[in-house]
Amino acid sequence: MTSSRLRVLIPQDEISRLLGRLAEEVSRDYRDSDPVVIGILKGAFIFMADLVRLLDFPVQVDFVRVASYGAGTRPGGQPRLTLRPHLPLAGRQVLVVEDIVDTGHTTAAVLRYLERQRPASLRLCALLSKPSRRETPVVINYLGTNIPDLFVVGYGLDAAERHRNLPYIAVLGNE
Ligand code: IMP
Repeated sequence: MTSSRLRVLIPQDEISRLLGRLAEEVSRDYRDSDPVVIGILKGAFIFMADLVRLLDFPVQVDFVRVASYGAGTRPGGQPRLTLRPHLPLAGRQVLVVEDIVDTGHTTAAVLRYLERQRPASLRLCALLSKPSRRETPVVINYLGTNIPDLFVVGYGLDAAERHRNLPYIAVLGNE
């Protein structure tokens, strides 16, 4: 697979700008609350690493991983958590970090699970959202940017496990 099939949608400097704004919003709300930041693997690993390094106050970090039945998330297919957070979350300020909200099924399932752990608060930070694809309503408290219905890769996002390491976000193929 060559890079000639990739069209840059969000360049590195734009990602930095979005990150800076999100870090400011998160800092404003969480500076004094000792939050737990929970990344959804694998896609959020780069976004989460960059975001938490822009927070100049103590945070704890944990991860969840979700398996969807079938390829991607089929309508009616229930995503299932295959990795749960190790940190106790009851009474904590919990911020979930996701790369992209597409149909919404993955994030909704994660939020449902975390809600049952009785955190003091539970919010979502997503770098990207494709609102035109939504099948389940999801409130995104901190959003990088909306994108159209395109399949994107890079900055943690993959196509068949490739392209996660690109420092920018690109559209694959002829889209
Ligand atoms: P959902 O449809 O909102 O449940 O998203 C399911 C998962 O599909 C997300 O967590 C992403 O990891 C992945 N995903 C959705 N859209 C894209 C995309 O455009 N590129 C790469 N992965 C995507």
